[in-house]
Amino acid sequence: MESIGKIIVIANQKGGVGKTTTAINLAASLAAAEKRILLIDNDPQANSTSGVGSVGPKGKTTYEVLIGETSADEAIQPTQMPFLFLIPSNINLVGAEVELIDRAGREHLLSTAIQTVRKKFDFVIIDCPPSLGLLTLNALTAADSVLIPVQCEYFALEGLGQLFNTINRVKRELNPKLDIEGVLLTMYDARLKLSNQIVDEVKKYFGKKVFNTIIARNIRLSEAPSFGKPIILYDAICAGTRHYMELAREILQNNKFFAYEPLPHQP
Ligand SMILES: Nc1ncnc2c1ncn2[C@@H]1O[C@H](COP(=O)(O)OP(=O)(O)O)[C@@H](O)[C@H]1O
Ligand SMILES: [Mg+2]
Repeated sequence: MESIGKIIVIANQKGGVGKTTTAINLAASLAAAEKRILLIDNDPQANSTSGVGSVGPKGKTTYEVLIGETSADEAIQPTQMPFLFLIPSNINLVGAEVELIDRAGREHLLSTAIQTVRKKFDFVIIDCPPSLGLLTLNALTAADSVLIPVQCEYFALEGLGQLFNTINRVKRELNPKLDIEGVLLTMYDARLKLSNQIVDEVKKYFGKKVFNTIIARNIRLSEAPSFGKPIILYDAICAGTRHYMELAREILQNNKFFAYEPLPHQP
């Protein structure tokens, strides 16, 4: 059976909104549904890497892939889950932003590097750093779609204008096929009136782009990374597991007819 090879980037330049938690647990939930998943850690903080239990510094990382020192294939590691694979990150990736500044086609490096491996996977999930710099631009240029986590907190919508400006610029100049996978409400607390106000506000603003699935605040989700486990392996019956499985189901449903198209040209 053909793998669909869809590249979904998790982006928001705000820190602490649930990007990494979503990257890890969406990847693991899709893998639990026996979809072949590649998780790429594109953040020098490497929280996705440690969160799925990979301990460095063995092996190649996103840094070597980006600068062209190794192929994406060589950097892929297995994880504790049979359907989940990882390209890890480490702090070296900080240097890439500066080192690549003069490189021709510098926004296309990740896209070009992962074209050959994407076909082996159903979904490639890319976690991004909390900035709109070259690392995030590379991810958006490689992406079929972007998933935007929004925390149910004060100022939830703040900064999203800037993010959408960047997405539109990437669509115009670098990657016309870039689509919005959805806006994901995270860290929802039903007891707080504020949480419900934010849900209403985000839905009013983004309409159908907002996932039906809402990720509630769940202490188990914040504990799991320190055990190097996706939530589904840490506590299979908690709300966090249920909500990320629901998100995976929603994404599978939305992508029933997605067909991967090879790039028309290489930059
Ligand atoms: N649904 C949730 N419930 C409880 N804690 C969460 C939830 N989502 C994320 N967290 C915690 O919030 C913090 C920030 O989340 P993280 O995914 O690292 O955000 P980002 O990658 O956007 O910086 C982390 O400590 C994480 O464990
Ligand atoms: Mg993160």
